Amino acid sequence: MTALDEPTAEVTAAEFRDAIGHFATGVTIVTSIGADGEPVGTTASAVTSLSLDPPLVLVCFDRASLTLHAVRTHGAFVVNVLAAPQRHLSANFARRGLAAAWDGVRHRPGPTGSPRLDGVLAALECTVEDSIPGGDHEIVVGRVHAIETDGKDAAPLLYWRGAYGSLGEA
Ligand SMILES: Cc1cc2nc3c(=O)[nH]c(=O)nc-3n(C[C@H](O)[C@H](O)[C@H](O)COP(=O)(O)O)c2cc1C
Repeated sequence: MTALDEPTAEVTAAEFRDAIGHFATGVTIVTSIGADGEPVGTTASAVTSLSLDPPLVLVCFDRASLTLHAVRTHGAFVVNVLAAPQRHLSANFARRGLAAAWDGVRHRPGPTGSPRLDGVLAALECTVEDSIPGGDHEIVVGRVHAIETDGKDAAPLLYWRGAYGSLGEA
């Protein structure tokens, strides 16, 4: 038996979630447009800068995500990077399916039609460049066509070990 054939130590989902939760992230709302023309969005922390030239980001979507389905159909999405006071938006858009309420969520369409949320630290407007299976998730690679930053040096919303935080908090 070679090293490659040897069974790896089994890790439960709970153990994996707990361990990877030690990796602090920012929080984004990834928005797009559904087949009915209505805005959709999901809270996403599995978002990474991928390439500078060309400018690419990747987002890891749960295969069951309705936002993922909209992104596939619409072919474009916006990564909205949340500021510390926007934790309520993270909770709102973490509700499964189309339960996320858009009432009271101020937004406007960007060049691809996907919603840009007001008050975010940055909005990255993307078209779908590629889509790769990743276990129970799908990795969507987005090509960044337009960006907007708030330029106010506001604090970011952070997520760490299952709880929200911000820079400077103990
Ligand atoms: C802080 C936080 C980060 C999350 N990150 C992701 C993520 O990166 N990818 C994902 O698919 N779901 C993520 N979720 C869960 C989704 O937001 C949640 O399943 C949502 O209901 C999906 O909505 P949709 O089916 O309308 O797209 C996250 C939730 C929270 C609270």
